[in-house]
Amino acid sequence: MAKPSHKLALRRRPRRLRASEGIRRLIEEHLLTANDLIAPVFCKEDGLRQEIESMPGVFRHKPEDACRFALELHERGVRAVALFPCIPEGKKDAQGTAALDPNGLIPQVIREIKGRAPGLLVIADVALDPYTSHGHDGLWNPENGEIENDATVRLLCEMARILGEAGVDLVAPSDMMDGRIGAIRASLDDASLERVGVLAYAVKFASAFYGPFRDAIGSRRGKGYLDKRTYQLSPTNLREGLLEAQLDEEEGADILMVKPAGPYLDVISQVRARTLLPLAAYQVSGEYAQIVAAARNGWLDLEAAYRESLIAIKRAGADMIITYFASRFVGNAE
Ligand code: PBG
Repeated sequence: MAKPSHKLALRRRPRRLRASEGIRRLIEEHLLTANDLIAPVFCKEDGLRQEIESMPGVFRHKPEDACRFALELHERGVRAVALFPCIPEGKKDAQGTAALDPNGLIPQVIREIKGRAPGLLVIADVALDPYTSHGHDGLWNPENGEIENDATVRLLCEMARILGEAGVDLVAPSDMMDGRIGAIRASLDDASLERVGVLAYAVKFASAFYGPFRDAIGSRRGKGYLDKRTYQLSPTNLREGLLEAQLDEEEGADILMVKPAGPYLDVISQVRARTLLPLAAYQVSGEYAQIVAAARNGWLDLEAAYRESLIAIKRAGADMIITYFASRFVGNAE
């Protein structure tokens, strides 16, 4: 019998593999689990928890609450937290002196978490911006307006050692000074802190998507955008990013990171193709804020949109993702 005339003579019908939940699941190429996620935790010195206005659902916690929040994330399957401090303006200065206090906010939270949940990995940023009055990641020279590379690196080495002594598992230099990975590695090793790993913010762009984070840690300066273009990368440049990744690997980074994530999937994919190291990606505050804001307006389905944003980052080649959605993913730890 002749085929009905509307039938196409197709040998390949890709839709066969999309026809049921069963077959769709079977052919899934990427999977998102709590094992892939690192949860950021914002810390402050005291008081009740405070919601960050530009990041609904994300809070600053005093040490005790930060620790409780981290422990709950851990119980729900999250393997790692990344700590960020919000330091009172009165404790900031041009040199970021408070970053070198062994009893400062972050060392305190590290000790508390590692004391109660040694199996939960704790990551801490190495950069001066939460501690400087000008909000830059490095030392700012008022005479020429420059961010001083080598003097900054010396401080970062000291900061990394203090974090290591407090018990941190991974230090995450996020400052983009030249040579800091090698110097920090050497300084940790000199202090017999070989166990402390370095998660390098290797390819970090000068991005407008960090805005809400700067609210969260209180480093936003005026309405304008704090210009970090003398150390963070230009969004126009891929090759320069690959070179940064290569340098950080040569200097001894254990894990490389690309930041932001969603707008830089090409960078993630190309770094993935060039290194054998594990690769992290940071879905930054602005990526979180835009999805949450659109969902709040009823313009996006929050659950579907955030999951899609994360699987895209994995598909591009990230092994792990720092994301403000981590808590939601494990059912909203409070
Ligand atoms: C600081 C730092 C920043 C972020 C992480 N560490 C901000 C910046 O470089 O200005 C951004 C994270 C985010 O936006 O979620 N060195």
